[in-house]
Amino acid sequence: MNWTNRPVIAATGLYTPPESISNAELVESFNEYVARYNEAHADAIGMGDIDPLQPSSVEFIEKASGIKARHVIDKASILDPEIMCPRIAERDNDQLSIMAEIGVKAAQQALEAAGRAPVDVDAVLCAASNMQRPYPAMAIEIQQALGIDGFGFDMNVACSSATFGIQTAADYVRAGNARSVLVVSPEITSGHLNWRDRDSHFIFGDVATAVLVEDAAIAPENHWEILGTKLKTVFSNNIRNNFGFLNRAAPETASDPDKLFVQEGCKVFKEVVPMVSALILQETERLQIDPHSLRRLWLHQANAGMNRLIAHRVLGHEADGDESPTVLDTYANTSSAGSIIAFHKHNSDLVGGDTGLICSFGAGYSVGTVFVRKTD
Ligand code: COA
Repeated sequence: MNWTNRPVIAATGLYTPPESISNAELVESFNEYVARYNEAHADAIGMGDIDPLQPSSVEFIEKASGIKARHVIDKASILDPEIMCPRIAERDNDQLSIMAEIGVKAAQQALEAAGRAPVDVDAVLCAASNMQRPYPAMAIEIQQALGIDGFGFDMNVACSSATFGIQTAADYVRAGNARSVLVVSPEITSGHLNWRDRDSHFIFGDVATAVLVEDAAIAPENHWEILGTKLKTVFSNNIRNNFGFLNRAAPETASDPDKLFVQEGCKVFKEVVPMVSALILQETERLQIDPHSLRRLWLHQANAGMNRLIAHRVLGHEADGDESPTVLDTYANTSSAGSIIAFHKHNSDLVGGDTGLICSFGAGYSVGTVFVRKTD
């Protein structure tokens, strides 16, 4: 076989948890929690010692974010006002862990779509915002469950984990160190979301995606050439999660709300939109692609308004749902998986020669662009 050392996206896979929570269900449970809290603290509120909690609203959520529902691993416990957190039973060490389980399901779909036998895959990258444990790596467990010989490791760049994973996989192919690499993104974001925080309780959903990056020589005929990838990071505290292995060394603050996802959403919106738009336009110039000719943008799925602005700046006009598809309405923000879900669900109608962009952005800050072209 003559290797080309040209990386392509050979196939993708998606696992969607069957349970879904609508905004109406979420707000009903949140407002019940608020009513119970305010009743339990009525005296202190009456004395002015603490502020009452404010209710959430479906109208606000849809208008501010574009989110209408989210898939989750465990709906009942999240909606229980006494729990407001997923309950996922710990498994024995000889059982497949939940994060690996959903990652394997997405990966199997990608392998099947590419007609690739696991034994012919060289590497697995588990690229996601949260790992279930520090070690052994989730990627190695996924590798073992799929029956892949080779190597695997975990990587975390928050919402940009999948695009950073695609560039890493593409670089292995370019360098000849691997011919077939799975980038798996199991995102159980319901575990890091503070479901009691009015500002963010509606944001996230659970899912798993997989992207198979391969040398063009072995990829199925119908694939996506990777024309170029560009990554950027700029430090910011505006999206932060202080959960970590040293929390137990400061037990007095180990359960504080900053050990879950927190953000200054408005600042993120204002700072990230220009950063992402500029990076995309710089990349189109470097790759000599006319941005107005891009057939489709598969953007990170965090906020419909952000995507509208970015798409407008890149395409030069207001994008419609065909040019910049959304999955945010039914999946919510699924962190690194969002742009991959959009690509997975909305690429089959494109024709040979069509050029598009997969783009992620989020905590770090981190931005990743992957320009792709469908083969003729
Ligand atoms: N229900 C009703 N009202 C709410 C509410 C809720 N759940 N949450 C907040 N509000 C209120 C606020 O109290 C505020 O009221 P005020 O104007 O009286 O002070 C008002 O709504 C606006 O709040 P704000 O936080 O400024 O909303 P926003 O328009 O910035 O939207 C986000 C919030 C989070 C949806 C939006 O900022 C966002 O998506 N940002 C980008 C985040 C992102 O990309 N993050 C990446 C994460 S991976």
